[in-house]
Amino acid sequence: MNAAVRAATRAALAQGWEVYGVRNGFAGLIADNMEPLRARDVGGIIQRGGTVLGTARCPEFREDAGRARALRNLARRAIDALVVIGGNGSQTGSRRLAGDGFPVVGIASTIDNDVYGTDVTIGVDTAVNITLEAIDRLRTTGASHQRAFLVETMGRDCGYIALIAGIAGGAEVIAIPEREVEPHEVAERLRAAYQRGKTHALVVVAEGARHDARALMRHFAEHRDALGFELRVTTLGHVVRGGVPSAFDRVLATRLGAASVDRLARGEPGVLVGLVGHDIVATPLADVAGRTKPIDMGLLDLARVLAQ
Ligand code: F6P
Repeated sequence: MNAAVRAATRAALAQGWEVYGVRNGFAGLIADNMEPLRARDVGGIIQRGGTVLGTARCPEFREDAGRARALRNLARRAIDALVVIGGNGSQTGSRRLAGDGFPVVGIASTIDNDVYGTDVTIGVDTAVNITLEAIDRLRTTGASHQRAFLVETMGRDCGYIALIAGIAGGAEVIAIPEREVEPHEVAERLRAAYQRGKTHALVVVAEGARHDARALMRHFAEHRDALGFELRVTTLGHVVRGGVPSAFDRVLATRLGAASVDRLARGEPGVLVGLVGHDIVATPLADVAGRTKPIDMGLLDLARVLAQ
């Protein structure tokens, strides 16, 4: 997100505009917590994960009264446009503000990669790579000790991180909410891998799967013999949201930050800017809000074939 803050700030300054950074997302709009940003204020942040502006979940922004307060604060400061960097919740907020008549451009940013209107959201490439690094590291012990490892990664209700990191890491089983796998089926697949002569195995589970790491471990504890392998579990949790953003994420965020300002300069707000194919594309916020992007289920089938 910092790369997007930096790019939007500097692109807007290049237009001769004044720029404010809002602290803690919509909560900062309501609390009038914002301050001018100059070019130097966004220096040295492109390599830092998260956001230097801070972020917060803000239920008040769903209420008309909360948004009215935010709009009053913006008007008092003569701020006439807003760039909102965030996932589905944030872009639903953007849509509401746009519905109130305020010029907004959204930038899709979430590790879940479930925002409609973009192939990729800011942060997911880094999160996939962190998950993959964990998988690769766990394989070291798996291979040496002839064990199976179960890794749970984040993604809320979306299995994208688990799917992509699972494919890149050669997982034997990928369990995601979009296609649930029953615990006994995971056990059968591990057993089959063991019988085919595999010396170790990896299961990648998305946190949103009904049978998450904890549920699978409970089942496996009762059916230890069905696996063939000895099994260990690692839950990555918020680790996948931290660290140094990848080059891909920094460039994506930079392009989207600049594109958001371009839309405002052309007087065409009310959209989310995203990456579709190789191009930056604008999608009306009305089409984005309340919708999620599905994952490519063909990749899950492919992963299953390749796990043989
Ligand atoms: O939506 C991004 C995300 O990181 C999800 O993948 C995860 O389920 C959730 O946020 C974690 O939220 P919190 O930090 O509030 O626990």
